[in-house]
Amino acid sequence: MTAGPLVLGIETSCDETGIALVRGRTLLADAVASSVEEQARFGGVVPEVASRAHLEAFDATMDRATAEAGVALSDVDAIAVTSGPGLVGALLVGVSAAEGLALALDRPIYGVNHLAAHVAVDRLVHGDIPEPAIALLVSGGHTSLLRVDDVTLDVTPLGATLDDAAGEAFDKVARLLGLPFPGGPHIDRAAVEGDPTAIDFPRGLTSPRDDAEHRLDFSFSGLKTAVVRWLRAREAAGEAVPTADVAAAFQEAVTDVLVTKALRACEDSGIGTLIVGGGVAANSRLRALLDQRAGHLDVRVPPPSLCTDNGAMVAALGAALVERGRPPSAPGIGADSSLPVHEIVVAAMRSGLPPPGAGIVEG
Ligand code: KG4
Ligand code: ZN
Repeated sequence: MTAGPLVLGIETSCDETGIALVRGRTLLADAVASSVEEQARFGGVVPEVASRAHLEAFDATMDRATAEAGVALSDVDAIAVTSGPGLVGALLVGVSAAEGLALALDRPIYGVNHLAAHVAVDRLVHGDIPEPAIALLVSGGHTSLLRVDDVTLDVTPLGATLDDAAGEAFDKVARLLGLPFPGGPHIDRAAVEGDPTAIDFPRGLTSPRDDAEHRLDFSFSGLKTAVVRWLRAREAAGEAVPTADVAAAFQEAVTDVLVTKALRACEDSGIGTLIVGGGVAANSRLRALLDQRAGHLDVRVPPPSLCTDNGAMVAALGAALVERGRPPSAPGIGADSSLPVHEIVVAAMRSGLPPPGAGIVEG
């Protein structure tokens, strides 16, 4: 058995109930229950459906995680839970459960940032993150380039999407093509049979004109509009839609820009490690392009099951926080739907209780 703190990680920010146990850098169990099939009927994530599904799945998922890891909850050294960003109602299910457990077990609790957790999960696969590193974070709600000086303390945004997230673009284009939600994996599969050069879709914010102001930013809404226009023209001409070609050409446009800008961030900063995380990091073309174009860079992409939302990422960040002696959150961590990426651990009492000294009238 490897050494290190035993950390329970709880993730409920969107439609996956993820509960995992990590000891140091070793993943002991990673149980995930997804409400995605239920959500697919609505063509997207309905917040109330997600919250209810977390409540219903929670106990069984916890039982699976502890059984698989062969540990009792009383063995746990610390608890980490996603505090944001995400859907408030969904986040609160995990946060409430985690706070109850922390209280009952008398263990420290860390309310953590989902985005930093997507980066930290890589330590379970490739070992400790060589810092500084550049991280490309590509999920359903976020697309950013980050400089990671310390994944437990110091993460700086270098660029982000100005409009749609990469995963959102995949989901919207899938819908246009009549593919189920969430669209990313379906486009990935459909594209295998397609020709990525069949249609020359636009690469957002890559012109020399954009270089000064948006060198490391992304934009995918123009690409989505280009797909809509292309499909409409086909329809108007009474021609059939070549789904595989559209999927492949769209996927090529997204992944080309993601890889170009991620490599550019590494070059600009002189940093030799690139970590890729978030659901879109599961994309096979993105992984292949990184392989082809990375050159001498150390590119770290976790296996697909650790790219999409899970509890392991939260536990991985939690274990790093414990190992580096970071102070835990105070009780009352709450949920923050738009927690900024640089806020890695919520300090607690962000709202509700006044800061020390507030309300004291001098004189
Ligand atoms: O990180 P994640 O599981 O949840 C969020 O934090 O948003 O990311 C979900 C997103 C969805 O938009 C989904 O379509 C996309 O990741 N995704 C993919 C693939 N697998 C999941 N996108 C492209 N290719 C994939 N293979
Ligand atoms: Zn995520």
